[in-house]
Amino acid sequence: MEKTLAVLEGDGIGPEIVREAVKVLKAVGHKYGHRFVLNYAPFGAGAYFAQGSPFPEKTREICDASDIIIKGPVGLAVEQMNLIPPEQRPEIGAILPLRKRYDTFANFRPVRLPRNLAHFSPLKAQVIGDGIDILMIRELVGGIYFGAKIEGSATGMRYSTDECTYTADEIQRVAEVAFEEAKRRSCPLINIHKANVLATSRFWKEVVEDIARSYPDVPYRSLLVDNAAYQLVKNPALLNGVMLLENMQGDILTDQAGGIIGSLGLMPSACIGPEKSYVEPAHGSAPDIAGKNIANPYSMIGSIALMFDRCLGLTDEADEIWNALFAVFERGYVTADLAQDVHERTEIITTEAFGDMVVQHILKSS
Ligand code: IPM
Ligand code: MN
Repeated sequence: MEKTLAVLEGDGIGPEIVREAVKVLKAVGHKYGHRFVLNYAPFGAGAYFAQGSPFPEKTREICDASDIIIKGPVGLAVEQMNLIPPEQRPEIGAILPLRKRYDTFANFRPVRLPRNLAHFSPLKAQVIGDGIDILMIRELVGGIYFGAKIEGSATGMRYSTDECTYTADEIQRVAEVAFEEAKRRSCPLINIHKANVLATSRFWKEVVEDIARSYPDVPYRSLLVDNAAYQLVKNPALLNGVMLLENMQGDILTDQAGGIIGSLGLMPSACIGPEKSYVEPAHGSAPDIAGKNIANPYSMIGSIALMFDRCLGLTDEADEIWNALFAVFERGYVTADLAQDVHERTEIITTEAFGDMVVQHILKSS
């Protein structure tokens, strides 16, 4: 197949991890006979300083004209971010508008740590047990992130409000995606909420439970978000399956999940919309280690695997990438973020060497 991809390298470690992901994309394309036309475009804090906007008009046009968007992390060190007016900072000025523009409502964030890599985790091996295999699906274009933001001092006391609204349609469409995924993987669906306090969460739970009735074969459970945070560190295996989360709760628990498996560098993601989707790592741009060739490219390469699977429906190509990533780890090669437990069999390698090893594995395996 032939596809046109927009490539937004972003800031900080973005360009170096995107470079490795593109190498892997090309290797899979070469092996399976797919052709990718890549159009690079500026996005993020660097784009603001160079062109006056974190999401320039020309970048919008390149994204509009592409089939899928590959996006690196964005943002710079605090001192530089402080030079940017708040509404032009990459979060508010680039990421949220990108999500809204393409209505990328379903955010897939797999959390995978096989048993033999338990040493990556700060948790004890017996807590990891037979391994962690959770797919967090986060609603990405609704809730408090996109509600009205009001500030004032009407009563003489200054105040600030973030409104949180969910419509039934917004909940239904992401719940359907999550149930379909749980059915495909033959695993339970675990619905996360805070229905003991929040009206939007009570509504969320009610609407999801209506959808659950159409999926009698998918085991359904619900769990309060605070309890889910506790279980994630206490007994993560309890959560193996598909976890469905609203936007803000999903933001928080997916970072926690990265900590549990050992690094945010192990958190790829795909943001799926009705017509267009984009992929990005779930973490930031790590400006402190940018340009040193030490960042972990797993999250960016894994995002390419998610692209093959979720955006193109090419599961063999996706599996090829996952297998290669885990094969490199199993041979004892890690980037510096995963090296807290270095033993004789572990060797710390660079960003570039990691990408090369993944490519070699893909091109060698039959
Ligand atoms: C994420 C990030 C973003 C979010 C920020 C950068 C706006 O933390 O993708 O998880 O909060 O969604
Ligand atoms: Mn986040």
